[in-house]
Amino acid sequence: MGAYFGVSTIFVFCLLGFSANAEEFTIGSSSGSDITQELLKAFTSACQSPSRSRVVIPKGEFKLGEIELRGPCKAPIDIVLRGTVKADGNTAYGKDKWVVFGNINGFKLHGGGAFDGEGNAAWRVNNCHKTFECKKLPISIRFDFIENAIIKDISSIDAKNFHINVLGAKNMTMSNIKIIAPEDSPNTDGIHLGRSDGVKILNSFISTGDDCISVGDGMKNLHVEGVVCGPGHGISVGSLGRYGMEQDVSGITVKNCTLQSTDNGLRIKTWPSSACSTTASDIHFEDIILKDVSNPILIDQEYCPWNQCNKQKSSTIKLVNISFKKIRGTSGNKDAVKLLCSKGYPCQNVEIGDIDIRYNGADGPATFQCSNVSPKIMGTQIPKACSAPVTKAN
Ligand SMILES: *[C@@H]1O[C@H](CO)[C@@H](O)[C@H](O)[C@H]1NC(C)=O
Ligand SMILES: *[C@@H]1O[C@H](CO)[C@@H](O)[C@H](O)[C@H]1NC(C)=O
Ligand SMILES: *[C@@H]1O[C@H](CO)[C@@H](O)[C@H](O)[C@H]1NC(C)=O
Repeated sequence: MGAYFGVSTIFVFCLLGFSANAEEFTIGSSSGSDITQELLKAFTSACQSPSRSRVVIPKGEFKLGEIELRGPCKAPIDIVLRGTVKADGNTAYGKDKWVVFGNINGFKLHGGGAFDGEGNAAWRVNNCHKTFECKKLPISIRFDFIENAIIKDISSIDAKNFHINVLGAKNMTMSNIKIIAPEDSPNTDGIHLGRSDGVKILNSFISTGDDCISVGDGMKNLHVEGVVCGPGHGISVGSLGRYGMEQDVSGITVKNCTLQSTDNGLRIKTWPSSACSTTASDIHFEDIILKDVSNPILIDQEYCPWNQCNKQKSSTIKLVNISFKKIRGTSGNKDAVKLLCSKGYPCQNVEIGDIDIRYNGADGPATFQCSNVSPKIMGTQIPKACSAPVTKAN
């Protein structure tokens, strides 16, 4: 444990003529030290501050063990990460978290620094992408029940599992987030969100081994704009329907994003023989550039990896009010558009407009397949809509 400086500096904020004092707690340990205890202490003090306070992790590289920074706090808190915090490189079996920010109202995390999950050794022993039965690896950064928050200018590198998980958030804006892990790192979703209301992800770069952004059950009002994604598995709503007690999804907008060399593009996936019967509605993808993206537009209501479900029973998740508009670029395979909806609950009110997706492979040209859906088609349609309808024998 390094020297602790409870430096109480006066900061003057001039915001719309309003000024306030912020108490500041700066990590004083030298670069290379383990700051887990010191950071916990600094946060605990900051959390007791009656007015907005800041915890500063200066430039340098620090070790950081598993840590939970939880409120409720007496006033808003800023965490300024200027340096890099590094996780333990071991495989940390059975732990599901590394850094948790929880139950804080008025939260800001910024500063240009990075969370390095040191995932390399762990990826080699992880098999959660192949089976249900596996030991969980820690998610790098968890935001649990954070309200009125700004997260910006932060990087996440080499997470062992998901990079960022958002649960129970209200009014959170993430911008200029950089997420990096190798293309073949398993389960390293960039940002996973669920059971939250009013989250924005803006102007960010995500290059990882699994979904760039994945949206779980209970997500409401998510706005994604100006995100560059790839490599990775694209932007995905779902999978939904794997567990009971899931909640509806609604109000998801993805705009002005670029997907490059991703395994999937824009995807909605639900499990057959679903464990619940929810609705995912009002999901809109618009103004998207594709560069060599496999399965660019995909609704898959028969999502059943490793055949761990009963495909005979159609999905009971209802997909309603979905649109894909102004989506252009190149596909990495011939399946440019595939809308495979549930036989029991055909997709309702699906609109597709101004699609221009080219595929140049020998098995081309690109196709547009539909089952259990009658999309409303507008504008350009390359490939031609529902030119190769699939009839599923199930
Ligand atoms: C959302 O959170 C931001 C950042 O704390 C805050 O400035 C804004 O007023 C909040 N918006 C609402 C509607 O509460
Ligand atoms: C679209 O997103 C890119 C970042 O990918 C950004 O540079 C550009 O300004 C955005 N365009 C609009 C019209 O918002
Ligand atoms: C779908 O959109 C229509 C028309 O905007 C609206 O009336 C309906 O409530 C929406 N359905 C759902 C489930 O959101």
